[in-house]
Amino acid sequence: MVLGIFVGVVAVVYVSRVTSVSAIVEHVNTTYDFVIVGAGTAGSVLANRLTEDGKHTVLLLEAGGEETRHPNVYVPLLSNLERANGYDWGGTSKDYDDWAANGSVGWNYKQVLPYFLKSEDFLPESQKSSVYHSKGGPLPVSNIDVPFEPLADVFQKSLAQMGYKTIDCNTREALGMCTTQVTTDNGVRQSTANTFLKPVMTRKNLHVATFAQANKVLISNSRAVGVEYLRNGRKEVVGARKEVILSAGPIGSPHILMMSGVGPAPHLLQLNIPVHSDIPVGSNLHDPMMMPIRVLINESYTITPARATSVISKLKYKILGSGMLSSSGGIVGTAFVNADDKSKTKYPDVVLSMMATFPELWESGRYNYHKYLAKEFYATAIQNQNNSEGFTLWIQVAKSSSSGTMKLKSTNPFDHPDIDPEYLFALRLIRAKPFQLKLRAKVLTRPFSKCAKHKFNSDPYLECLVRNLAVSSNNPSGTCKMGAIEDNSTVVDPQLRVKGIQRLRVVDASVMPTPVTGNTYAPVVMIAEKASDLIRKSYNKEAKGQKRQDKNVQKKPKR
Ligand SMILES: *[C@@H]1O[C@H](CO)[C@@H](O)[C@H](O)[C@H]1NC(C)=O
Ligand SMILES: *[C@@H]1O[C@H](CO)[C@@H](O)[C@H](O)[C@H]1NC(C)=O
Ligand SMILES: *[C@@H]1O[C@H](CO)[C@@H](O)[C@H](O)[C@H]1NC(C)=O
Ligand SMILES: *[C@@H]1O[C@H](CO)[C@@H](O)[C@H](O)[C@H]1NC(C)=O
Ligand SMILES: *[C@@H]1O[C@H](CO)[C@@H](O)[C@H](O)[C@H]1NC(C)=O
Repeated sequence: MVLGIFVGVVAVVYVSRVTSVSAIVEHVNTTYDFVIVGAGTAGSVLANRLTEDGKHTVLLLEAGGEETRHPNVYVPLLSNLERANGYDWGGTSKDYDDWAANGSVGWNYKQVLPYFLKSEDFLPESQKSSVYHSKGGPLPVSNIDVPFEPLADVFQKSLAQMGYKTIDCNTREALGMCTTQVTTDNGVRQSTANTFLKPVMTRKNLHVATFAQANKVLISNSRAVGVEYLRNGRKEVVGARKEVILSAGPIGSPHILMMSGVGPAPHLLQLNIPVHSDIPVGSNLHDPMMMPIRVLINESYTITPARATSVISKLKYKILGSGMLSSSGGIVGTAFVNADDKSKTKYPDVVLSMMATFPELWESGRYNYHKYLAKEFYATAIQNQNNSEGFTLWIQVAKSSSSGTMKLKSTNPFDHPDIDPEYLFALRLIRAKPFQLKLRAKVLTRPFSKCAKHKFNSDPYLECLVRNLAVSSNNPSGTCKMGAIEDNSTVVDPQLRVKGIQRLRVVDASVMPTPVTGNTYAPVVMIAEKASDLIRKSYNKEAKGQKRQDKNVQKKPKR
């Protein structure tokens, strides 16, 4: 499953970059205060924060490990698009106000903002470049040795002609275009491990077990007491004195919950799993879809395999950590626009990301969209043109309105979205003058056999194309919905505690009651930061360290 690979690989990046350090253990103790499942984004933050004051012991269980690592995982260019989209979090304050208004007490924008800032403040100096705070100033890509500055320029000018200005995507402003933090994002992507996990791998109270695949939470008398996991082909058990925390992602966490007997009773009973808590785990699954548009250009401004893998490019990346290979998925810029609303309301309905390459060109990439797309359509089209110079415009519906259900033995639960207006908007954008004059941009299109029954490029044809070629954005959320306890659609309370089971929390994108606009990376860091505080507060009431922590959180309200 795409997500599984994604989560696994992210975790592997985290873990493998720190293998020389001590916390990775062969021998796992019998009990810890906290057992965290999943060394992804949230798990790394939690492992750091919960071991910070030295008062608790923590075991981080991670299914991945060094052996599964793929060289390309380290190369940001070849990593996947969602992460490439970067660290934009402030886009839409309404997302969080909606959460709070609907039962997630304590999670409105004002209340979560300190936690966004906290993790941002935590980033190393090298990443606090002006990019985060650029307010439509010089393009951040301009002085970096990647060739695609002209693309950013054209993207920006064309959007400007349609009424969208350049914004700082880390502010409350919701509509407009932000150029991607080319270097910064690279840093962020690689450094969630570096930032949160690596520096703490020397802490005596932290253990990390790799290749440990959690099967289920052990529950006794409605209380989580430990985790059963597989390691080296053997079933192992570890005890949790205080809590078990699931951070295995929006597919992994509900999976483990259901395996543990926490989920919709009829479904569990079907599979002969004894029910500990009958709550709607796995419902409310959201995963925005994306539609790529390929555009050929007649200029050398893009990232081609030949250029990116040239000796110079490799050296730059190895020695300086810069150059094309350091560019995150080749993302040039991201625009939050309102394609379907003539009145231009304040909130975006589509996110457009410009990527300075065709993902199909990257056969060797671990994240190769090739297999998820219609090979016939893109691969052949590109070969036929004998022209790899071009960009991909990704169209992502800002918020998917439809939701699916994740079950233990599920097939694809996603509906294909209706993204016609957005698709047409993108086509219009490419026809704008700057694209035409400067790049001679030409949308790559050819008759697609599956849609041959419709007139080429007619509305029904385009609709058919979208149905066949849209892909999951890999930003699923919502499968362990947070909200009021008495709301029977919720799985966790606003403290992220699983309903009906003591000492068990879920901390990852699963808890999002409604999806956030754009990608989930930064919001997940925020959720983990807030969760760490909630958890520590409930166990450390007397701790002095806590005051210091609170101060840190409230400091620097820069925006
Ligand atoms: C609040 O939750 C209820 C129950 O799940 C749902 O029907 C409603 O649409 C939600 N409202 C908002 C504003 O999200
Ligand atoms: C693991 O157990 C040993 C022996 O009891 C103990 O000294 C150590 O602190 C424990 N480590 C953690 C991280 O719990
Ligand atoms: C590309 O540019 C070259 C040089 O400007 C020109 O001769 C050629 O016709 C162009 N090709 C296309 C397909 O526009
Ligand atoms: C495209 O490239 C292939 C292989 O390099 C070559 O055989 C073919 O003739 C080229 N086609 C065109 C139209 O240039
Ligand atoms: C949730 O509660 C409402 C009203 O209390 C009820 O109508 C609905 O059927 C319940 N849904 C589920 C899934 O139990």
